[in-house]
Amino acid sequence: MQSQLFTNIGQLATNDVALSSGAIGLLRDAAFVVETGKVVWVGSATDAPAADSATDLGGAAVIPGFVDSHAHPIFAGDRADEFAARMAGESYSAGGIRSTVAATRAATDAELEANLVRLKRELLASGVTTFEAKSGYGLTVADEARSLEIAARHTSEVTFLGAHVVAPEYADRASEYVALVAGEMLAAATPSAKWIDVFCDRGAFDVSQAREILTAGRAAGLQPRIHANQLSNIGAIQLAVELDCASADHCTHLSDADVDALADSNTVATLLPGAEFSTRSPYPDARRLLEAGVTVAIATDCNPGSSYTTSMAFCLAVAVRDMGMTPAEALWAATAGGAKALRRNDVGHLGVGAKADFAVLSAPSFVHLAYRPGVQLIQSTYQSGVLA
Ligand code: NIG
Ligand code: FE
Repeated sequence: MQSQLFTNIGQLATNDVALSSGAIGLLRDAAFVVETGKVVWVGSATDAPAADSATDLGGAAVIPGFVDSHAHPIFAGDRADEFAARMAGESYSAGGIRSTVAATRAATDAELEANLVRLKRELLASGVTTFEAKSGYGLTVADEARSLEIAARHTSEVTFLGAHVVAPEYADRASEYVALVAGEMLAAATPSAKWIDVFCDRGAFDVSQAREILTAGRAAGLQPRIHANQLSNIGAIQLAVELDCASADHCTHLSDADVDALADSNTVATLLPGAEFSTRSPYPDARRLLEAGVTVAIATDCNPGSSYTTSMAFCLAVAVRDMGMTPAEALWAATAGGAKALRRNDVGHLGVGAKADFAVLSAPSFVHLAYRPGVQLIQSTYQSGVLA
């Protein structure tokens, strides 16, 4: 079995509290050893054991690969004009999703896959080593099924989001569309998907529709997650907790009871700063959630309408600047928090036993991710110890 030593790491964020005090388990002048794609030893570079090969990282900072637990990378077309109109004063609504639906339906499988591959490369270049991929721009049985099949070729974290908005053909027949999603569409999605998601908000699906769809998904073997409280508070957080959703995403409009319910649950609050940035909306209050003891994740929400970014570093910088997070809290949320939102314990940290997924920064400290906004600081990305 070949072992690889990664050494001369100026600052290593492990997210392993057993290795160093503080939530992100920081080590200085560190090294780690990888065998068969996993971390088998981590500690001070001076104590590192011999290995079959060694890579000198030149004093750089190293972080666990980002875990992007919320992305919509299967689509065609773009909505730059809609963004420009918003920046000129128009407001964002869930309805814009339908223009991407039209473009996605018109695209070939090869076009959809090529766009996904392009975004996957961007994610890797941004230090993302695990990403989730939602359907939701097909909204017919066939278009949702092919979106999920394409996604499953590129990630294991595939989410069926047939309930993104009511499909245009069902404009005045929402309950029929809900029955389709919970019935035939779900059956076609199940072979490729691991998760089921509903956009439960004003202009999309209400709580009882979301409950019906998520419950049907769970009965079919999918695990629930939910878009909650992005545009308004219609009670989606309470549903998330009731159904033990792995994650409630957006969490922009929360009552005190919502915050308490999240704190007492296994549901992660996933915050998506790119969405508020690109829709010029108020940011969620991460500080309030953290003070209450809620587990917080940060993700890109990469989609052509409300958040067309693949940069976790950008999201992290906004979370630090405008959402009340410290750089360490934001790094944890974008790595370990994302892993918790996907109920994964093999990624999001670099303790012994973790998958050797990591990013090497062109910087001496992870703080630079927020301190130097907009600068490409990801020097290289490794998955299972292999340069991606
Ligand atoms: O997470 N909120 C719902 N879905 C996306 C928006 C998708 C779109 O506008 O196309 C989101 O922000
Ligand atoms: Fe989303």
